Amino acid sequence: MGLEIFLNQTWQFPPTATHSRTEDSDAASETELWKAVSVYGTLPRGTLTRPWPSANTGFVLLYYVLSPLSSLTALSLALSASAFPEYRSLAGLSAAEVRAVARTFQATPGAQPAPPPINDTSSKLVFDDAHPFQPDAPGDIRGPCPGLNTLASHGYINRSGVVTPVKSSPRYKKAFLVDGNHLTNLMSIGQKTPETGPDAPAPAIIGGLNTHGAFEGDSSTTRDDFALGSNFLFNETLFDQLSQAAIDFGSNGMLDIPSAAVHRHNRILDSIARNPNFTFVTPRYLTAYAETTFPLAFFVTSQTSDTSLTLDLDVARSFFQTHKFPDNFYRRNGSYGLAEASVIIGEVFAPFPVLPGNNEGVGNYVVDPEDPGFTGHGTCYAYYKQSNLTVALYPDPTDELRAAIAQNLANFYSALGDPTCEQVFPFGQ
Ligand code: HEM
Repeated sequence: MGLEIFLNQTWQFPPTATHSRTEDSDAASETELWKAVSVYGTLPRGTLTRPWPSANTGFVLLYYVLSPLSSLTALSLALSASAFPEYRSLAGLSAAEVRAVARTFQATPGAQPAPPPINDTSSKLVFDDAHPFQPDAPGDIRGPCPGLNTLASHGYINRSGVVTPVKSSPRYKKAFLVDGNHLTNLMSIGQKTPETGPDAPAPAIIGGLNTHGAFEGDSSTTRDDFALGSNFLFNETLFDQLSQAAIDFGSNGMLDIPSAAVHRHNRILDSIARNPNFTFVTPRYLTAYAETTFPLAFFVTSQTSDTSLTLDLDVARSFFQTHKFPDNFYRRNGSYGLAEASVIIGEVFAPFPVLPGNNEGVGNYVVDPEDPGFTGHGTCYAYYKQSNLTVALYPDPTDELRAAIAQNLANFYSALGDPTCEQVFPFGQ
């Protein structure tokens, strides 16, 4: 059964069920790896009480999509590909056998403890001697996210592209729940690979971030829709369209909020017009708008929180296509938390508001009345939906796997930081 089927099913709300290369030098320890997450600037947790700034709607919590780097880390796992030369399934193994397999991977099953908060949010040089750019080596994996690809190409996370999550990132945790390997704590930032460990039985996927419909979705900034082309490779035509929006509507040929909003809307219109399977519902709906703001928030060198959020197109290309920091790149000065992000997302959304929905055939976009999108309890809706999807992927896990998923789901819940959502325990407590 494909992921699309899971995503198209009626979701219960709330659910009733109940490579061997490592990071460069200073990214090798947990402490130093924690620093790696703040390469672009930090995104602290916060309380979502702000009203939506531009539209007269309830505020939606975007927390889980807005804290990508506050919690990403990569451990110095030297996973020997030769230990598992081919895909092996955990199906049919006893709990003891699964434990034995899991032990062969040098990662701790289940969740890792959260690192301490980052206190230093000041601007600093991150394209430094300790983190040289290296083009992908044969076998290195890159995927749809230019932020993670760039971190990997500079060794802030494992250059192989097989990485380990940290629990305090709702964004990472959410992706990990459906794309990662719960027993080995490894996830590919791109294609499926045996380097994340042996597969759990189908319908589990453990496919990495390239997997369409799990975390990756339609209407991306510079990547095609899955139904129309590559959903993870840089697409020159789409980048040209982004550039044209910047030239026509931006600040002196630079990408800014109004021109980014134009491109976001154009991408949605293009998907509606050409993609018969276009799916634009939570969580992809939320992540698409958030990702539109990330280049402005993170790809501008030496940016302070009160600057005008304008991005040079060559710099944009460097991240999106080459996965390389521009020379002398300084991370932003100050955090990009909810206070900042909610305003900018609102400015992207407000000029061209589109409600969550999906195509029923080319050109026939149908709004999903159940999806709160940016209104109401969007966070809880996303959480329950994610829980249901995880249950669908892991309907009958072994005890070992069940415990690991339960832990990761609990970590995802706590990372959301929204006590108004009722916690669910489909894998036990
Ligand atoms: C920490 C965990 C992160 C995860 C799991 C993650 C995952 C992803 C995924 C799966 C996509 C593809 C979405 C799609 O097009 O369907 C994506 C896109 C994107 N990500 Fe990330 N990301 C993370 C952090 C970051 C960071 C730190 C940045 C910026 C510094 C960033 C910037 C972007 C941008 C700009 C896109 C849009 C790319 C495009 O549509 O062309 N991400 N991310």
